[in-house]
Amino acid sequence: MTLPKKVRIVEVGPRDGLQNEPGAVSAAVKIELINRLADAGLPAIEATAFVSAKWVPQMADNAVVMAGIRKKPGVAYPVLVPNLKGFEAALSAGAREVAVFGAASEAFSQKNINCSIAESLARFEPVAQAAKRQGIAVRGYVSCVAGCPYQGAVEPAAVAEVAAELYRMGCYEVSLGDTIGVGTPGKIQAMLAAVIQVLPVEKLAVHFHDTYGQALANLYAALELGVATIDSSVAGLGGCPYAKGASGNVATEDVVYMLNGLGIETGVDLELVFEAGRYICEQLKREPSSKVARALLAKKAA
Ligand code: HMG
Ligand code: MG
Repeated sequence: MTLPKKVRIVEVGPRDGLQNEPGAVSAAVKIELINRLADAGLPAIEATAFVSAKWVPQMADNAVVMAGIRKKPGVAYPVLVPNLKGFEAALSAGAREVAVFGAASEAFSQKNINCSIAESLARFEPVAQAAKRQGIAVRGYVSCVAGCPYQGAVEPAAVAEVAAELYRMGCYEVSLGDTIGVGTPGKIQAMLAAVIQVLPVEKLAVHFHDTYGQALANLYAALELGVATIDSSVAGLGGCPYAKGASGNVATEDVVYMLNGLGIETGVDLELVFEAGRYICEQLKREPSSKVARALLAKKAA
């Protein structure tokens, strides 16, 4: 067993981290956060979502955010799109990469995007085709890979089926989301083993929420199987509006600290991510949920 030498971190804080924030966060703050994350060396930053503002009001300023960010060469700024309408709006706003988001659970699909899994895949297909014609990269998400807040258990085969379908339609990468953070390392490895049978491990990313404190252990379990792309959220911000009680993604600071310790290259500067996290936490008037950020704050205060 050898761990990957390099890992690509996809920062999802500005989207997944902020989408559930009850109070208004200004576009200016979002833009400043995204620029700081780019300066910290993150190679991909999910900037916003082109979804219905009735469903997710916090992402209503999507076009303003896209217009305001300084697009750093070499950095990808993907945005979520649930359908062609979202894709067209994203394109008009200057997006060069989009992400479609499906689920391995029927109940979650209905709550999150108001349609069945099959209907969602039928909506993503024209998005993937239009993106291909226009040279836009498409990433795919599968939610609820280790359990669903509405239906409970989710079988690895159900995850593999949706992941394979997203890959077939042209997603360059499929990100496997433990939306409610219920997975444990053995369960995650069993799920990954099923997915790796139908799509190459190089095409997979993992996206773990830390609700039950298992995210770092689960990431290590995924690294053991060769996964080399990790989604994380600065300061551990976030949660999904359609998964009540689910906490944020694993914190970017914690992931970088662990990978640094393992000698795995990320190109991300821990100190600068920590500062970006400190900035957004000050704006939101909250403590970071990142353990590493808390430790660094305490060390600096001493
Ligand atoms: P719907 O109500 O079924 O859609 O929503 P509809 O087609 O019936 O349209 C209803 C209205 O929405 C219409 O407007 C459409 O024009 C409009 P009206 O005529 O009433 O004024 N509409 C849109 N507006 C803006 N952007 C669009 C769009 N599409 C239609 N793209 C829809 C279906 C998918 C739009 C809705 O359910 C939605 O926006 N859901 C968003 C859910 C969401 O963003 N969830 C959080 C992100 S997923 C996540 O966090 C998980 C992830 O992190 C991975 C993990 O952790 O597992 C990715
Ligand atoms: Mg998520």
